[in-house]
Amino acid sequence: MVAGDASARSPRLLVLGAGPAQLGLLEAARARGVWTAVADRDPAAPGFRLADRRCIVSTEDEPALERLAAALALDGIIAPGTDWPVAVAARVAEKLGLPHPITPQTAVLATNKVRQRERLAAAGVPQPRWQVLTDGAVEIEPPLVVKAPDRQGQKGLTLVRTAAELAPAVATARAASRNGSALVEALVDGPEVTVIGFGGRSLLVTDRVTAEPPAFGVALAHVWPALSERDTSRVRTLDVAERAVAALGIEDGPTYTQLRVGADGPQVVEVAARLGGGHDAELAEAALGIPLDDWAIDAAVGRTPEVPDRHDARVGGAVTRFLVAPPGILERVEVPDGLDGVLQVRIYRERGFVVGPLRRGADRAGAVLVVGGSREQAVARADAAAERIRFVTADAGALV
Ligand SMILES: Nc1ncnc2c1ncn2[C@@H]1O[C@H](COP(=O)(O)OP(=O)(O)OP(=O)(O)O)[C@@H](O)[C@H]1O
Ligand SMILES: [Mg+2]
Repeated sequence: MVAGDASARSPRLLVLGAGPAQLGLLEAARARGVWTAVADRDPAAPGFRLADRRCIVSTEDEPALERLAAALALDGIIAPGTDWPVAVAARVAEKLGLPHPITPQTAVLATNKVRQRERLAAAGVPQPRWQVLTDGAVEIEPPLVVKAPDRQGQKGLTLVRTAAELAPAVATARAASRNGSALVEALVDGPEVTVIGFGGRSLLVTDRVTAEPPAFGVALAHVWPALSERDTSRVRTLDVAERAVAALGIEDGPTYTQLRVGADGPQVVEVAARLGGGHDAELAEAALGIPLDDWAIDAAVGRTPEVPDRHDARVGGAVTRFLVAPPGILERVEVPDGLDGVLQVRIYRERGFVVGPLRRGADRAGAVLVVGGSREQAVARADAAAERIRFVTADAGALV
């Protein structure tokens, strides 16, 4: 090994987050021999078992992360799977002179929903009508979606169907927001898709199957190939996603774009400059052999991965199906053998965890990655697996 030659030794990476959303990247880092320091405020976070160094610090505590990063002789910083730390990673990388796929300015556009809406509007990218609410009246008619501009994971997010539901939804969003404002958007009614991209290019589209209120917007499954693969909206969806990514100035690294295909075609719900938080990279690998976790690691340490022009399907269908546990104190999880087509079972929670009702993404209890000879077979197998995996909970009534 040549002293000081980063290419001659394995890279050293600071990973922000050790939750379920970061597990895939942490596994890929371990498999490649990448040294990781992993930051999370929760000592019980499942990703810590994959860390070379555990750092019990919040992924939002920027001064602490900056000091930590400066002390670790790093090659890069990455925030896979969750939004706010994406901007923290970009700023700390810049301060320390580390390579990084996006600038801090782009990271702000990717993590603040209002700044993003402004930029998409300036670039003419299709998106729902929107309005920032500080004191004035709401000008858009229900049905609406009200959200906190600087949160994710459905925090402060409400579907408003009637005028009477508006005031409480705005209060909820403002309370959740970091600056007390609320973002109001017209509801785009139509199927929702996710476009997974890298280096500014759209790579694959999955259907995002979401829950109804009171868990509005929570993903229950990602399904590949998307139904739109079979119709003409596919090309427009890929194109709109690429235009949205370009408008934010993202030219390198992974992207995750949520769109809803309404009567006027695909509209951008949100672009994230990171890997998806629902094991999307593993689905891309299972479906098309795209090593997205590896590419994200490369981008974080300043190496540009070779992205082929085309990817051949490995299977006919692939599904990430999230698992939901009944509320109560988790006693055990029964995972039967011989689940057809199941490549991976992830259980997010340990015995003793108090499971609440499904309201947000963080309330999901696990996920399975399932493949099949067709989309329909993969969906049927995923449903069967979700049915057969049993979360046994005891009454938590005494605790609440
Ligand atoms: N304007 C809209 N029209 C239709 N559906 C919407 C709209 N805004 C949000 N949603 C629904 O809510 C989900 C979450 O929206 P959004 O990404 O804005 O919130 P979030 O808190 O960042 O959630 P996530 O962490 O899932 O990205 C979307 O995936 C979509 O299902
Ligand atoms: Mg979001």
